[in-house]
Amino acid sequence: MPDERLSVSVVGASGYVGGELLRLLLAHPGVTLRQITSERHAGRFAHQVHPHLRGQTTLRFTNRAALEPCDVLFLAMPHGETQAAIAHYATLAPRLIDLSADFRLRDPARYAAAYGQPHAAPGWLDRFVYGLPEINRAALSETAYASGVGCNATATILALWALVQGGLIDRAQPVIVDLKVGSSEAGNTPTAASHHPARSGVVRPFQLTGHRHEAEVRQAFASGGELDVRLAVTSVEMVRGVSAAVHVSLPPGLADRDLWSCYRAAWKDAPFVRVVHERDGLHRHPEPRLLAGTNYADVGWEYDPASGRAVLLCAIDNLGKGAAGSAVQCLNLMCGFEESTALSFGGLYP
Ligand SMILES: NC(=O)c1ccc[n+]([C@@H]2O[C@H](COP(=O)([O-])OP(=O)(O)OC[C@H]3O[C@@H](n4cnc5c(N)ncnc54)[C@H](OP(=O)(O)O)[C@@H]3O)[C@@H](O)[C@H]2O)c1
Repeated sequence: MPDERLSVSVVGASGYVGGELLRLLLAHPGVTLRQITSERHAGRFAHQVHPHLRGQTTLRFTNRAALEPCDVLFLAMPHGETQAAIAHYATLAPRLIDLSADFRLRDPARYAAAYGQPHAAPGWLDRFVYGLPEINRAALSETAYASGVGCNATATILALWALVQGGLIDRAQPVIVDLKVGSSEAGNTPTAASHHPARSGVVRPFQLTGHRHEAEVRQAFASGGELDVRLAVTSVEMVRGVSAAVHVSLPPGLADRDLWSCYRAAWKDAPFVRVVHERDGLHRHPEPRLLAGTNYADVGWEYDPASGRAVLLCAIDNLGKGAAGSAVQCLNLMCGFEESTALSFGGLYP
């Protein structure tokens, strides 16, 4: 661990991801939270926006224009904002961790195809490492710039990773991912879709084709050739949480123990991926509710040897492992802290 505490600041700290970053960073023994920004709430205390942080900090929000240099700058603004001013942010801190989608893709053409317009700072794209520690641990230990991860992409990549690495996924077939997501994915700006009478109790197909996170997932698996991944997202009755179910056909002749070996090989050194694959009981499969507030990703599967069909599963908290948790894990790797520092607490049950 570095000798002195590092100073960190958070831009966009009034949002849901920003609030989760504050909660995690305030408990981190190696950092001191220096500044938190919000244009709407400048001058107000953190707990006036994030009531669960009352008593945890006396920091007040400042405007972005008042930002001073720090050791690590987290950026948690809507898509497009970081790339528009990346050169400025890089003058404020030697290390940047951007939670938006701005620097997740390496290839400007892939970015333009996914986001419908050219990137504003394409020369910066390959300076960022995709911030999913489970697949990029070594690169994150050596970089000064990390991107965030899409929450739906995180769940999809972690659901698929073990069997792709094990060579069991046929890249000639489309891979269909059914995602159920909670309301906090949409951020804290109220909309007609988030209005309680319209949102409560829904099982609402939200985006069934053409999801932007497909580009991240394809990039993550690109080293073995193109993987044709299709995400279908349904909004369900949760505040936090993503549940991914990936439907695949496996080669003939496999037994459940062959899948077990792939999962063990993939995750034996990953402190935040837990394999959940029980024969009986209520909690046989990953469930997002058990993960709320944590940095864990639970993965598992159900396999039918007779048909060769398998459903690969992953559950996460979209604001935890899907955003702020992975970002703090990136901070730990980038700054020489033990990887799980400030992150290894469990969830709540019941
Ligand atoms: N929600 C999730 O589950 C999730 C998961 C992974 C990644 N992300 C990504 O993380 C980022 C933040 O998401 P969120 O859910 O926290 O969103 P949010 O709740 O809407 O918060 C966005 C923050 O950015 C600030 N902001 C709003 N408009 C801005 C603008 N035009 N320019 C600069 N700042 C602006 C807001 O504060 P002020 O207006 O007060 O300054 C607010 O603090 C997004 O890029 C999102 O895609 C979100």
